[in-house]
Amino acid sequence: MLPQEIIRAKRDGGALTPAEIDAIVDGIVSGRLTDAQVGAFAMAAFLKGLDRDETVALTRAMTFSGETLDWPDAAGPVLDKHSTGGVGDTVSLLLAPALAACGATTPMIAGRGLGHTGGTLDKLDAIPGYVTQPDVATLRKAVAAAGCAIVGQTAAVAPADKRLYAVRDVTATVESIPLITASILSKKLAAGLFGLVMDVKTGSGAFMPTHALSLELARSIVEVANGAGLKTVALLTDMDEPLAPVAGNALETLHAIKLLAGRRQDARLVDATVALGGEALALGGLAADAEEGRTMIARAMASGEAAERFGRMCAALGGPADIVERPRNHLAEAPIVLEVFAKAEGVVAKVATRTLGLAVVALGGGRTRADDRIDSAVGLDRLAGVGDAVGPDRPLAIVHARDEAGAERAAAAVRDAYALADAGATPSRAKLIQE
Ligand code: URA
Repeated sequence: MLPQEIIRAKRDGGALTPAEIDAIVDGIVSGRLTDAQVGAFAMAAFLKGLDRDETVALTRAMTFSGETLDWPDAAGPVLDKHSTGGVGDTVSLLLAPALAACGATTPMIAGRGLGHTGGTLDKLDAIPGYVTQPDVATLRKAVAAAGCAIVGQTAAVAPADKRLYAVRDVTATVESIPLITASILSKKLAAGLFGLVMDVKTGSGAFMPTHALSLELARSIVEVANGAGLKTVALLTDMDEPLAPVAGNALETLHAIKLLAGRRQDARLVDATVALGGEALALGGLAADAEEGRTMIARAMASGEAAERFGRMCAALGGPADIVERPRNHLAEAPIVLEVFAKAEGVVAKVATRTLGLAVVALGGGRTRADDRIDSAVGLDRLAGVGDAVGPDRPLAIVHARDEAGAERAAAAVRDAYALADAGATPSRAKLIQE
């Protein structure tokens, strides 16, 4: 089967057989397909769609494109959470150690930044020494030591998604329900999970910006996952503004560590983490229901147990042993720090979250080519949220940049991203956890 003939069939709107999808996935992993062909396949699938049978076939082929893991010695149920991608979304850094502290085993196979969204692996790459692509033996050792390990697909685990994901990132083919479904679930099925909680984002910073499309994505993932034998539930969460007031790799990692260590507060990020974690603990039978699970996760975070697990995970994967105590000793800082003020005083009415994500990419905190190196130090922090008053004494955000020109460009993007109402207005904020 010539790849170009299969791509042509999809381009013309045909439904591919499992054998044709296997041939494409095989070509992606073996390198027989060129980047151009991988991009063309992604674009054809993006434009013409994949029906449920094709999505299941793609998910299965990508799952078995490498090694699949199992956890016969796991101390607890193997549980995980995955997000469809957002800005300022550092839930994974908090939740993996919190789940472990509650008795779960969490081998979290995470992704890199995609499009305008940040990636958990890129955030962890900001920690010097932390190996985000360990071999399977090291991954197992880290999970045994900490109860959790956040790592990327290696050459061994879901390698087809690794390559397809990198190509989609730079070919405008991310926002596709079947491609997102197969991408996420191939990693999760290969990781040998018992239960998965999906954080499906909705709003201006989500890949699926409308509520209806986000629901469709949630249904697609839940149906394909449960059909493949992976117990899965999904929550729809707001991405009409960044989840945390920071976006950028080292900045988000610092934020998460400070929060775990009780040295910073962030109610929205904690609420999202607790809600997702509660569902996971209930799925795994560690809590009687999601409410009890939420209490357990909140306790694990407040007591410092989650922070302690994070420290153990980091050390087991090659990072500094004192990352929780002294994160600033290890995380890079950008040389240029610029406060960005609005033109007039007012209250934040709306945030174009995607614009903020793209500003981080343009600063060097994300990729425009699959092989780009990321500048972990750059990004945005103290981002104002919906309803916040901004003015001469309260900036919209602070830009962290490598040079003055980059800082000025990012500042202009930040100003564009914010719509203000008159001072004193009380704009409504989207619900964090949506129906
Ligand atoms: N996260 C993934 O792992 N894959 C996607 O395609 C989108 C978000």
